[in-house]
Amino acid sequence: MPETRLSIQGLCRSFDGRRVVDDVSLEVAAGQVTCLLGPSGCGKSTTLRLIAGVERLDAGQIEMCGARVAAPGLHVEPENRQIGLMFQDFALFPHLSVADNVGFGLRGSRAERSARVEEMLGQVNMGRFAAQFPHELSGGEQQRVALARALAPRPAIMLMDEPFSGLDNRLRDEVRDQTLAVLKANGTAVLLVTHEPDEAMRMADEIALMRHGKIVQRGAPYNIYNTPVDKEAAAFFSDINVVSGVVEGALVETPFGGFLAPGHPDGTAVDIVIRPQHLRIDFDRRKGGPLATPSDGMPARARVKRARFMGRESLIEFEMEHDGSVLSATVPSVFLPEAGRVLWLSMRRDRCFLFPR
Ligand SMILES: Nc1ncnc2c1ncn2[C@@H]1O[C@H](COP(=O)(O)OP(=O)(O)O)[C@@H](O)[C@H]1O
Ligand SMILES: [Mg+2]
Repeated sequence: MPETRLSIQGLCRSFDGRRVVDDVSLEVAAGQVTCLLGPSGCGKSTTLRLIAGVERLDAGQIEMCGARVAAPGLHVEPENRQIGLMFQDFALFPHLSVADNVGFGLRGSRAERSARVEEMLGQVNMGRFAAQFPHELSGGEQQRVALARALAPRPAIMLMDEPFSGLDNRLRDEVRDQTLAVLKANGTAVLLVTHEPDEAMRMADEIALMRHGKIVQRGAPYNIYNTPVDKEAAAFFSDINVVSGVVEGALVETPFGGFLAPGHPDGTAVDIVIRPQHLRIDFDRRKGGPLATPSDGMPARARVKRARFMGRESLIEFEMEHDGSVLSATVPSVFLPEAGRVLWLSMRRDRCFLFPR
């Protein structure tokens, strides 16, 4: 197991009597990228600022490389924490060359410093820009210099707050991948804040999903996506469809057949949640409807309300015949049914999540 570089326990911070960071605990190991993911205003940046030491905690504690750096009555200044920082406006010094920007925070002899600058510029493929000034660089190039600058002093922990949000879309994926490769090569422990699920899924070894100041779920991207803790967690990653029902005898009866609800007492109102790409669309080949199967349940009749071509896939809105509710399905874009057509929908049981209301 790689060593734990960052460990925070029970972190709390209030502003004007309102708890913005509420009992947050996390660990990040060397070489690991953890993404703190959540909607705007949920307390991500405040958490990062507490860890950086530019904000003081009300309760809890922060340890870096086994040493306590913050607790009630204890506050190690940011410059004495072994951290590198990167923010959205990564603010290179405009009057310094690329090389001087990267060398800015370095100690040691002149020769040592320039060797390290050269090494870091090499890592981010910016060696030939050493003598240029920030305004002569593109956004992506500036980003790479900022990364080299943050990593040059060999921080044990990198704290990154929405570092890619200033870049345009096409560039962003490329810069994300390059950044990840450099971070991994340096074995740094990384805590990256983002409100974009795609970014977190792309970058993270572990996602910590945050809501109203609390971490509601932690896990690998695959697990967070495929076993969300609640409806909101599911909805954060994609559109969702919701079919509601009530438990009776450990079963919820719906027009899509019965759903097992073990452990939920009779009378519990539940939401059955499924992502649009997991609805199954069927034609009525044998008239009278496709057959029910244990894995897909019962197909229900649905009328195409609207079908939109989205490039790689089509987004189809269905009006359900049984109650007029609308469910959306995404399918490969070779299929684009006309509005008004009646088809059959079923819900793949292994792709459904069931949550008490
Ligand atoms: N210095 C501050 N004083 C008062 N309120 C603050 C301060 N910093 C952040 N907040 C509030 O705390 C909440 C969380 O902010 P923030 O941590 O920036 O969220 P996020 O980064 O997830 O968008 C917001 O409602 C914000 O207005
Ligand atoms: Mg923020």
